[in-house]
Amino acid sequence: KNIVILLSGRGSNFEAILKTSRAEDWEGRFGLKIRAVISNRPEAAGLARAKAEGLEAIAIDHKAFPSREAFDEALAASIEPFEPDVIVLAGFMRILTEGFVKRFEGKILNIHPALLPLFPGLDTHKRAIEAGCRVHGSTVHFVSPVLDGGAIIGQSVVPILASDTPEALAARLLPFEHALYPKCVRAVALGAVKLVDGRAVMDDETA
Ligand code: GRF
Repeated sequence: KNIVILLSGRGSNFEAILKTSRAEDWEGRFGLKIRAVISNRPEAAGLARAKAEGLEAIAIDHKAFPSREAFDEALAASIEPFEPDVIVLAGFMRILTEGFVKRFEGKILNIHPALLPLFPGLDTHKRAIEAGCRVHGSTVHFVSPVLDGGAIIGQSVVPILASDTPEALAARLLPFEHALYPKCVRAVALGAVKLVDGRAVMDDETA
């Protein structure tokens, strides 16, 4: 089974997935391997890290393309040779076209730093604080043509404190993202997550 990771920046979620995949020997036990890391920003720290780890690291600069469609076309062309079973968006800051999403339907995962369906889009930590929420979290979900609207695979929850700034809240949440995302990636890659009536159901939840 093949995993392809897309990122745009720091890449701490990618690192968490890589670390877990090695610690749990995904390749030896499940034949599950990170085949490539692709960034739309050539200078992304996550891409440098992938290279340093000996992974296939590819930059496709979105600024070099005249349209979103043209970029997505190039992105899809660079992904296809790796025959991905799962495409992991790990801080990938580009909205994907419907054409791209349909091409890899059911295989693309994203982690969104909010308890979806609350707060799709940007500035989630600030918006959760301003709304007076007592809890916040992150959501791993299938990517559908609706932005941050696909079926929810897993969520983690943290408290919001009265003293919180968006930065402090983001920092509290990040380790929970790092624990959640590898679990969800592994479950989807191993075929343990199914869509039932538009909702994601894990095998051990139905057993
Ligand atoms: C994470 O907070 C994730 O939820 C969001 O973007 C951030 C990426 O961080 N989608 P990193 O690049 O994985 O460190």
